[in-house]
Amino acid sequence: MNIKIAPSILASDFSKVGETVKKLEQSGADYVHCDVMDGNFVPPITFGAQMVKAIRPHTKLPLDCHLMVLHPETHIEDFAAAGADIVTVHVEACDIPALFRRLASLGVKRSAVINPETPAEALFPAVDEGADMLLLMSVRPGWGGQKFIEGTLKKIEAVRNYCISHGVPDLDIEVDGGVTEENVKDVIGAGANVIVAGSTVFRSADMAATIGRLRG
Ligand code: DX5
Ligand code: ZN
Repeated sequence: MNIKIAPSILASDFSKVGETVKKLEQSGADYVHCDVMDGNFVPPITFGAQMVKAIRPHTKLPLDCHLMVLHPETHIEDFAAAGADIVTVHVEACDIPALFRRLASLGVKRSAVINPETPAEALFPAVDEGADMLLLMSVRPGWGGQKFIEGTLKKIEAVRNYCISHGVPDLDIEVDGGVTEENVKDVIGAGANVIVAGSTVFRSADMAATIGRLRG
C-alpha cells in the first residue's frame, strides 16, 4: 500500500495558511488535512468552508476535510463548493448512509471517522456503504499536540481486517492524532496507510525530511 502523509494545518500559523499549503506541496505532502471544528461537537472553534475556499487556489494537493461538527449534513454543500476533495464525517454525529449518498452526489470522496472511545465496528457500515477512506482518531478530537492513544493500534487492525474480508483490502485507512516519527511504524504496521501529522510536521526544521521519514 502506498503511504500518504496528510499534515494538519491546525498546527500551523493561521496568519500564513496560503503560504503554508504551498510549502506543504513543495515538501512532498500528499494531502492537506483541514481540521474543521464548530465549538459544539468539540469545544474549540477553528474554521469553516471559507478557509478551504481561501487555500484552494494555492495548492493542487487534495484537501482532506475532517468535520468535527454537529449536523455535518448542513455543511457539506459549502465544503464541496469550496473545493474540498475528501469530506470526513463523524459516525457519532450523523447517519453515514444518508450522508455518503449526498457526498457522492456532490462528487466528493466519502470518509467516516470514529473517536477514540467508539469501537472499531462502528466503521464497518461505512465500508459497506462504499467509503473512499476511513479515519480513526488516536487522540481526543479538538486539539493538536496530544499523546497517541495506544489502544488505537488494535482498532486499526480490526478495521483493516474487515476491509480485507469485505473485498476492499486496499481501502485508505487514515489515523489522526499524536503520530510521531517514533510511533508511525507501529501505526502503519497495524494497517493504516494515510498519516495525519500536525505537530510532528510543523515543529520540524525541515518539513520535507520529516514528511519523507514519516512515509518511511
Ligand atoms: C485533532 C485533529 C488532529 C490533530 C493532529 O482534533 O483532528 O488532526 O490536529 O495534530 P497532532 O498531529 O499534533 O496530534
Ligand atoms: Zn483531524
